[in-house]
Amino acid sequence: MPWEDLEPIFRPETVHMGRMSADPEKCTRPRGSKCQFCWDNCPFRAWELQDGEAPRMKEEADCFSCYNCMVACPRKAIFVVEPYHVDEGFYKTEPHSLPAKMPLEPRDAEGNPDQWNAIERAVFHRRSVRNLKDKPVPETLIRRVLEAGRFAPSAGNSQPWKFIVVTDQALINEMNEGIYGILSTLHNMYKDDGMVKLLAAGYEASPTPATYDPRIILGGMGSVTKRNGPVFLKAPVVILIACDERCIGGPEINAGICGQNMSLVANSLGTKSCWVGFAQVINNLPALKEKLGLDYPWKVMTALVLGYPRFKQEGLVPREFRPITWFREGASGPEIEE
Ligand SMILES: Cc1cc2nc3c(=O)[nH]c(=O)nc-3n(C[C@H](O)[C@H](O)[C@H](O)COP(=O)(O)O)c2cc1C
Ligand code: SF4
Ligand code: SF4
Repeated sequence: MPWEDLEPIFRPETVHMGRMSADPEKCTRPRGSKCQFCWDNCPFRAWELQDGEAPRMKEEADCFSCYNCMVACPRKAIFVVEPYHVDEGFYKTEPHSLPAKMPLEPRDAEGNPDQWNAIERAVFHRRSVRNLKDKPVPETLIRRVLEAGRFAPSAGNSQPWKFIVVTDQALINEMNEGIYGILSTLHNMYKDDGMVKLLAAGYEASPTPATYDPRIILGGMGSVTKRNGPVFLKAPVVILIACDERCIGGPEINAGICGQNMSLVANSLGTKSCWVGFAQVINNLPALKEKLGLDYPWKVMTALVLGYPRFKQEGLVPREFRPITWFREGASGPEIEE
């Protein structure tokens, strides 16, 4: 494929990273506090701190609008200026650009105002928790998380997963460094106008557009490359979810459902969790894969880290509300709810 055709994938234009702001009237820093929860809870270190001032977002911040800074702020001082979006081209966000909305108020079967139940609360309040204490998680609790994964639904009841639990910090560091090596090489090649053409040349043989989505190549991989933090987030526990790559329905969806069961149960036990999809890079590190006991047909699909939170990182955030198409009984055609 000529470079002209690949350019929109490797050099997307009109990418607008998210913009957030902190209200100086609500933030406690202008009144002398040293609070920095928003800074700590941003995976991309998008904020700048100056003594005596509310945090400001860096001009070149790679914000992908996760809104984790909002949940960490005890003063609810942070608000959305503009969500991440791409106007045109390969990575165009559609429909562009959606306002972020909070969860709708619950209603009961008769349409009356209702309360969320325990499961809804767990779903809506769950956030990725990346700031964890240096405190071990008892194996009895890890076991409960694994059991939640074992009892997940799977296509054909094939149960195509296996779990590798790593609490050995030396091995976690080895995984961090191995993954860092590959991600930083990829990121540096991408940033270089000459080298990026080598990536583009290899793309045709194995197209993986998600790898070059600006949120990943600039945000996620950029953050790892800058050593903002280790891939496995200094967690005391890493659970790798490996799947049989031949499995019914495909390994991605089975691993995803299994992991979400585990994540919600982990959060219910006083521990908290975060997904680490970059764990997949282990599949490209043969020595590490072998050490972890993974050979064909097993592939690392994703990972979860567990630990105790250093501060509150959960809560409600707004999310895009995509138009919903309803085909209602008795209606003449589809109705689109904006
Ligand atoms: C499949 C998958 C892979 C992810 N991989 C990573 C990762 O490698 N590192 C990370 O810090 N967060 C990772 N995340 C967390 C997402 O960034 C996060 O879910 C998203 O920003 C929404 O924020 P929330 O989880 O707080 O709602 C991943 C999430 C999913 C579902
Ligand atoms: S929305 Fe997410 S990425 Fe953007 S500044 Fe806040 S924490 Fe960072
Ligand atoms: S978390 Fe809130 S109060 Fe604390 S520094 Fe950030 S904006 Fe200010």
